Amino acid sequence: MPPKTPHQPASACYAQTIPGLEEIASAEISQHLGAEILRTAPGLVVFRPEELDREVLELRTVEDVFLLAWGSDGLTYRAKDLDFIEKWTATKPDWPKLLAIHHAIHPKPKGTPGYWLVVQQSGKHVYQRQSARQALARGLGRNIHPKWRFVEENADIEFWLTIDGTQAICGLRLSTRDMRHRTWKREHRAASLRPVVAAAMAWQAELGPGMVVLDPMCGAGTLLGEARLMLQSHGRGRLRLTGGDVDLDALETARLNLRNLGGAELFRWDARRLPMADQSVDRILCNLPFGITYGVGQDLGALYTRSFREMRRVLRPKGLAVLLTSEAATAREAAGAAKLKPTASTRVRMLGQPATMLTLRPV
Ligand SMILES: C[S@@+](CC[C@H](N)C(=O)[O-])C[C@H]1O[C@@H](n2cnc3c(N)ncnc32)[C@H](O)[C@@H]1O
Repeated sequence: MPPKTPHQPASACYAQTIPGLEEIASAEISQHLGAEILRTAPGLVVFRPEELDREVLELRTVEDVFLLAWGSDGLTYRAKDLDFIEKWTATKPDWPKLLAIHHAIHPKPKGTPGYWLVVQQSGKHVYQRQSARQALARGLGRNIHPKWRFVEENADIEFWLTIDGTQAICGLRLSTRDMRHRTWKREHRAASLRPVVAAAMAWQAELGPGMVVLDPMCGAGTLLGEARLMLQSHGRGRLRLTGGDVDLDALETARLNLRNLGGAELFRWDARRLPMADQSVDRILCNLPFGITYGVGQDLGALYTRSFREMRRVLRPKGLAVLLTSEAATAREAAGAAKLKPTASTRVRMLGQPATMLTLRPV
């Protein structure tokens, strides 16, 4: 990458996340990369980092990061958009510069590079995604070296175009699939949390080195793992992780996953009767049972009331709990009864389903 001078700001980037997490992702991006946030839209954060290097791949509350080629909110849903896409792709970006930055972050492979085009499209446009993809390809035209191979898998370079209603954004993907899927989480369970949501909950919990972090219904262990990585990847030390679940299979899954990250203390227990001392925990993170998989036939109100009372008992006076549920009203009621006060609430959409992330403090 060419050395930067104060007159040469780093190139702009954008990150994709789960709709609802833009504010948390923006906070991580600006604190971790010293970045200026240029704009946000549902599931999208556009930013300019102080310096652009591999640190951008250490972000945890986003699923993909790109170098910005161009962006617009001037689409019309009509066929003329295809001309715009072709023209903007051909004329707006400095492709040689963007490709040089990409190669600095992902060194150019030996031999001929393979490339791929990805187009995401949502909204009632008169044209199909395939037509938008062809317009992107025409716009790229001579910017792609004639010897580069067009490959479907393991491409070295991916050009992405995301169209959402009147908005379109185009860039070069910097992240690999590991950013979204996380290599540490090899074992999965039904209703298991998306790692990026777990990371956002860990961010909300304001973790600090040496803290005791509890997930009383830990499932596959996603929250405990992401909590550890949130601190570690930002170079801020280690946590003491404790978790438990009623389900032995869940515990085994959590044990296997967390083994990849240095382990955790895991127990089979009922979250309504935690075998833990009063005021022994700094932070609680929990993806509460809710929805189709865990909700049917259960009295969630009673489960929440009793387990929240236990959370309140084991939490230190300055502690924090960050909980995820689709049953926000039930959770608020149980929190009130347990003398836990909501201090923040974030609505997210996961696989089309709304859920709420609630931050609670003891009162
Ligand atoms: C929605 S899942 C959590 C998923 C988990 N956070 C993950 O990412 O994989 C809820 C978990 O709560 C557990 N659970 C339900 N009732 C419980 C109780 N009374 N005590 C402990 N665990 C319980 C279930 O076995 C399940 O693993």
